[in-house]
Amino acid sequence: MAATTTATPRRAPAAFVVLLILATASGASARGDGNGVYEPCADATVSRGDGFTFGVAFAGRDAFFSGGVQLSPCDGRLPLQNAAKLALFRPTVDEISLLTVNASGAGDLTSAGGYMVAFAGRKFAARSPPVFVGNSSYTVTGFTLVFEFHKGTLQNLFWKADGCSSCSGQANFGCVENSCAIKTSSCRGGNGGGGAGQVDCSPGIQLAFSGTDKHEAVLNSWYEVSKLKQYSLFGLFSNLKDSLAGQFSNFF
Ligand SMILES: *[C@@H]1O[C@H](CO)[C@@H](O)[C@H](O)[C@H]1NC(C)=O
Ligand SMILES: *[C@@H]1O[C@H](CO)[C@@H](O)[C@H](O)[C@H]1NC(C)=O
Repeated sequence: MAATTTATPRRAPAAFVVLLILATASGASARGDGNGVYEPCADATVSRGDGFTFGVAFAGRDAFFSGGVQLSPCDGRLPLQNAAKLALFRPTVDEISLLTVNASGAGDLTSAGGYMVAFAGRKFAARSPPVFVGNSSYTVTGFTLVFEFHKGTLQNLFWKADGCSSCSGQANFGCVENSCAIKTSSCRGGNGGGGAGQVDCSPGIQLAFSGTDKHEAVLNSWYEVSKLKQYSLFGLFSNLKDSLAGQFSNFF
């Protein structure tokens, strides 16, 4: 499997001070990319096989709301300056990908506030609900992010909790918001978690695509992901060096 480095957008969203978070995507292949939009805060209409740029902002839960309404991190009204850390990705539409956020260069992600929101677009301004990443007690390291497109325009972004059956009864795990969460004390210091342990707790994000592209072709990696889950999707990525997947399979 060829690992590719994430393309960096030409401009970062204005609302952020972009801190250094190295992000890598695996599984993205370069078939003709017909999407010329590289900014996460701009609108793109995509077809299958195009690249699609989106961002993930890390901050406290309240930082994503203004007047009780959750706004896109692209919205300048949010007080995210200095508070948020940002990772940018450009996966291939309708291709199963596992993204990892290497947080070790930027310090502890949980210190950014412990929640993350995925976002893309300006007019449509899709943003996921905030999802718990970690605090000094627990750290969640595996996420599934679902992209819902309609005729190639992103309508919706949401996290799909995988449940806690894979970690139930494991001494070093708890169940937080219906996801397996490792005790932060088991995490390697400064790398996502901040504990004194050995596990790389950098978050890994599994992507799934649903809906239709601009030619109204059906995106079906969502179907593939739900079908594969029963055979442990993480196993698919076990050849990813230094990845969350490797860490997990060693741990269980
Ligand atoms: C993560 O970043 C650190 C510091 O920049 C680097 O030393 C390390 O090799 C990186 N790890 C991966 C898996 O890319
Ligand atoms: C960490 O988050 C979990 C889940 O939301 C919560 O139960 C726990 O009290 C939090 N711990 C701290 C130290 O904030």
